[in-house]
Amino acid sequence: MASLRSLWTGLVLLGMLGMLGVLQTAAQAQILLSDFQQEKFMGRWFSAGLASNSSWFREKKASMSMCSTVVAPSADGGLNLTSTFLRKDQCETWTMQLQPSENPGSYSYQSPRWGHTSLISVVEVNYDEYALLDTKGIDHDFHMATLYSRTQTLRAELKEKFSTFCKVQGFTEDTIVFPPQTDKCLKEKE
Ligand SMILES: *[C@@H]1O[C@H](CO)[C@@H](O)[C@H](O)[C@H]1NC(C)=O
Ligand SMILES: *[C@@H]1O[C@H](CO)[C@@H](O)[C@H](O)[C@H]1NC(C)=O
Repeated sequence: MASLRSLWTGLVLLGMLGMLGVLQTAAQAQILLSDFQQEKFMGRWFSAGLASNSSWFREKKASMSMCSTVVAPSADGGLNLTSTFLRKDQCETWTMQLQPSENPGSYSYQSPRWGHTSLISVVEVNYDEYALLDTKGIDHDFHMATLYSRTQTLRAELKEKFSTFCKVQGFTEDTIVFPPQTDKCLKEKE
């Protein structure tokens, strides 16, 4: 009986420690965000991890490959994200224009095709290796997590960090993807 009780106490403590870990991550993310340095976020990133529960994403997931995105400042204080990706054996480029929002590291994006607005936020970043991004639809049902990496290959710890981030955001394991590299369209330098 006593050992059963201590087992339960142990489980509850573990759960609480788990909670603390989550809270610490959230607090840490806020500290990093409040001193977000936009100029250090510029340049080339690789979309090394993605998670989304949209049905579109679930369908495309298996055929996705890594894409490269160049972040540049835009005239209105926002960002231009120019992505190069492989589609039907050809490299295509696509520019997304992000408007600044009131919070540092957060930007709004209106899809020219659908007219929907999303809020894209840098949740955690160390500028020279990785960034964790959260994208939420403001006027439509959409939620996505993105791992940006400065290099095409990832440390195992970084993959784990992203998986944990996704799970805290409510994504299940089967919605997380680490898109494979392709030889095409992924030059390290411009
Ligand atoms: C995706 O998850 C959000 C909550 O994070 C939920 O509101 C939404 O209904 C989900 N969408 C789908 C397609 O499952
Ligand atoms: C941002 O992208 C848009 C659309 O491609 C382009 O018209 C604009 O000149 C770009 N801005 C900068 C500062 O490069």
